[in-house]
Amino acid sequence: MKKPPIVQLQNFSKSYVCAQDHVVHALRQVNLQIEAGESVAIMGPSGSGKSTLLHLLGCLDRPTTGHYLLNSQDVSDLNDTQLALLRASQLGFVFQSFNLIPQLNVYENIEVPFLYQPAPLPEQEMRQRILTAIERVKLQHRLYHLPSQLSGGETQRVAIARALAIQPLLILADEPTGNLDTETGKTILQLFQELNAQGVTLIMVTHDEKVGAHCRRMVRMCDGQIISDQFCE
Ligand SMILES: Nc1ncnc2c1ncn2[C@@H]1O[C@H](COP(=O)(O)OP(=O)(O)OP(=O)(O)O)[C@@H](O)[C@H]1O
Ligand SMILES: [Mg+2]
Repeated sequence: MKKPPIVQLQNFSKSYVCAQDHVVHALRQVNLQIEAGESVAIMGPSGSGKSTLLHLLGCLDRPTTGHYLLNSQDVSDLNDTQLALLRASQLGFVFQSFNLIPQLNVYENIEVPFLYQPAPLPEQEMRQRILTAIERVKLQHRLYHLPSQLSGGETQRVAIARALAIQPLLILADEPTGNLDTETGKTILQLFQELNAQGVTLIMVTHDEKVGAHCRRMVRMCDGQIISDQFCE
């Protein structure tokens, strides 16, 4: 039997109320399904709603209307604590600005998401997962370096290992190469492709066509709506 999609958004909208009751419709009636193992680029001009969509997919916020089924569980109505636990155990995040903790070494940074798990893992299993994740991004030789002692590309690799280590349902990345030079950015995109080939589900936001071309599916947004959704080979 076919597995249900990892992500199902149904009539999904997000509005922000700003000063003087001005309302911004950041997402309007979005319907989207993503299957396990896909790599999806969310593309579109500035202000089109890409980051808003990624935040909501990452359970960092709730929709104004509509439903979000993550691995068949409706997460639209969970409270803040439930969302935090879900994020910690099921979702891996990679940001443009890396977001590593400067005082912690590579190993300790990858350990951080384990501190927020609903049920703590035995020490030995956690260690094994951290070591496996660091090997997958080929940084075994940097395990005890501080972030300040790493290059930009290495720093992003650590962030990817941190996202991978909890064995998430999907990895969400917002402009993951935005702070890297072109060549280093390419190596990070190749790493994402390798991980996707190994089965990791990836959703990446970018405004850069060349970056988006590294994904097998391109979802284009404009004014808070999906205007095209294409699979590429
Ligand atoms: N917290 C907020 N409060 C009010 N409006 C917001 C908020 N966050 C985003 N918006 C508005 O929602 C719309 C979509 O913003 P979003 O950040 O999702 O765009 P984006 O596609 O990621 O743009 P960029 O490429 O510049 O990062 C924009 O008009 C933005 O001004
Ligand atoms: Mg954005």
